[in-house]
Amino acid sequence: METGEDRPPQKKRRRCYLILSVAVFLITAVVAVALGLALHQGTDHLKTTFISRCEKFKGYSCQKLWGAFEQAYVGRDPCKVPMEDYDPLIAAAPFKPACNRMMFWSKTKNVVHDFTEKRDCFVTLEDTLLGSVLNGLTWCGKEGSSETFTTGCPGWTDCENNTVRSFWNKASAAFADNACGDVTAMLNGSIATPFSPVSIFGSIEVKRFNSTRMTSLNVILVTQKDTGTNCTNASLKDLQKEMKKGIKYNCKEVTEAQIQECSSHPEKPCGACW
Ligand SMILES: *[C@@H]1O[C@H](CO)[C@@H](O)[C@H](O)[C@H]1NC(C)=O
Ligand SMILES: *[C@@H]1O[C@H](CO)[C@@H](O)[C@H](O)[C@H]1NC(C)=O
Ligand SMILES: *[C@@H]1O[C@H](CO)[C@@H](O)[C@H](O)[C@H]1NC(C)=O
Ligand SMILES: *[C@@H]1O[C@H](CO)[C@@H](O)[C@H](O)[C@H]1NC(C)=O
Ligand SMILES: *[C@@H]1O[C@H](CO)[C@@H](O)[C@H](O)[C@H]1NC(C)=O
Repeated sequence: METGEDRPPQKKRRRCYLILSVAVFLITAVVAVALGLALHQGTDHLKTTFISRCEKFKGYSCQKLWGAFEQAYVGRDPCKVPMEDYDPLIAAAPFKPACNRMMFWSKTKNVVHDFTEKRDCFVTLEDTLLGSVLNGLTWCGKEGSSETFTTGCPGWTDCENNTVRSFWNKASAAFADNACGDVTAMLNGSIATPFSPVSIFGSIEVKRFNSTRMTSLNVILVTQKDTGTNCTNASLKDLQKEMKKGIKYNCKEVTEAQIQECSSHPEKPCGACW
């Protein structure tokens, strides 16, 4: 009778190697599948977020919009996606002019969105379909791949024509093209230069303002008590100079507390906020 103990030593070693290589193979396979799932979940999660945010808006085919979105960057070098690549997406969900209700902002993101979420007084880019669908998200493609990635994408300043930045540049330009009637801009009075010519507001939106549609630009300079910058600041004078003939310019200092007060009192008319 042959038992394990009776086997010649090299046969025993061979069996040992076999078990070891099967174990290594299994572990590798499990890790690979888990990694694949994690990456896939990145794509699926982005699509799920896109579609579910999109469905809050009536009258659009969200699957079709996802398709128009993907074609801008899938299979491309994430640093070589110019603004124009998002034209078909913008065309599929064009911005509608909201005369006298359009709100621009720079360095006041939290206050302005808290306000527009609680009060139906103004519309920011992030309140529109495309702006709200992609707000806070990161995405990019890769050459030779048909996937969407949500990690390892170039950052905002890593390269000029990166996937995310080009979208916001294009969307901001298209949103500002519709600026009409009396337009509001919330700027930050707690910083030295509330109007920066290199911000999206300064470099893209302001350049698109057109006096055939727009009557006035009303700056709300959000301040904290008596500190910081006021409407006489030189950077705001630069903004005033940028206004084309026919667009009136106004500036008003309003405390953050007053805006929050208005946010939490929906019964107050919009015009009474400042
Ligand atoms: C970025 O794209 C624009 C076209 O939108 C192009 O004119 C420019 O040269 C590109 N910049 C770089 C650094 O590739
Ligand atoms: C203005 O900028 C400062 C400094 O970045 C920030 O702490 C503050 O929250 C901003 N104010 C508003 C109204 O967003
Ligand atoms: C402003 O809009 C009008 C009408 O759409 C257009 O003809 C004109 O070229 C625009 N002006 C500028 C400076 O873009
Ligand atoms: C505005 O700020 C400047 C310089 O910080 C100050 O000299 C001026 O008195 C301020 N103006 C008003 C109306 O508060
Ligand atoms: C006002 O604007 C100028 C440049 O536009 C800036 O250098 C200055 O620090 C600003 N702020 C204050 C509080 O004066």
